[in-house]
Amino acid sequence: MSTKNDQQRMYKDLAKYFPIITPPEDYLEECEYFAQVIKNTSPIESKTLLDLGCGGGNDDFALKKHFKITAVDVSPEMLKIAKKLNPEVKYLKGDMRFVRLKEKFDAVTIFDSINYMVTKDDLRAVFSTAYEHLKPGGVLVTIAEETPDRFVQNKTKCSVQNKDNIEVSFIENYFDPDIKDTTYEATFVFLIREKGKLRVETDFHLCGIFPLETWFDLLQETGFTINKLDFNVSEPEARTYPLLVCVKPTEK
Ligand SMILES: C[S@@+](CC[C@H](N)C(=O)[O-])C[C@H]1O[C@@H](n2cnc3c(N)ncnc32)[C@H](O)[C@@H]1O
Repeated sequence: MSTKNDQQRMYKDLAKYFPIITPPEDYLEECEYFAQVIKNTSPIESKTLLDLGCGGGNDDFALKKHFKITAVDVSPEMLKIAKKLNPEVKYLKGDMRFVRLKEKFDAVTIFDSINYMVTKDDLRAVFSTAYEHLKPGGVLVTIAEETPDRFVQNKTKCSVQNKDNIEVSFIENYFDPDIKDTTYEATFVFLIREKGKLRVETDFHLCGIFPLETWFDLLQETGFTINKLDFNVSEPEARTYPLLVCVKPTEK
């Protein structure tokens, strides 16, 4: 059941606005870089990729040029949007903590969705899912989007996008009511102007926040060898994210 702090309406009844707020074209450049990182890091040839928490398929839209993709998400609404964007990708409903497929992959990606892991056990479970689905020599790439030392309290930003005569002004606010626990709140306001009418919708997401050492400890415990790269973005603001490129050791 949704609580005030974890409605995730953006992935349910408001999902149709996701491709307007985050157009797939915005992901092309960074995904090109992620594809090169995978290919340059992996000791095996990287042809197949599992995308966990694939959302609207924006990353897949760019990565499908390089890999044969299977992708998993818990939200049927988001899977529908992703399938429309990428008919050639195999989309499956599942929870990234527990899903077990029969296939093994050359690479696993988890972008913009691992932040929904709110406990250490959640994070550990996702790393196990990635490890279980990788071939020896395969690579997991993910981003530790928020860590306590980099979190900006009460950060608020607004973007305005227009597509097919629907204009969405999207306001995001990030707040951590208790810096001692492993969660923070993301609050979204949607101003949707459609067919001459204004709708205002609100949405709450509960997200996880862990020190980078926790990420490293859990990844190592799972069996990964970790490389941390600095991933720099300039839009919508200049920021550096820890890009974690984790290799499943090859069998001896
Ligand atoms: C911001 S979207 C990801 C966007 C995606 N990277 C893209 O390219 O479009 C976050 C997604 O994480 C999914 N998600 C949240 N918790 C999940 C879980 N436990 N297992 C699988 N997917 C999950 C949500 O349903 C949502 O679709």
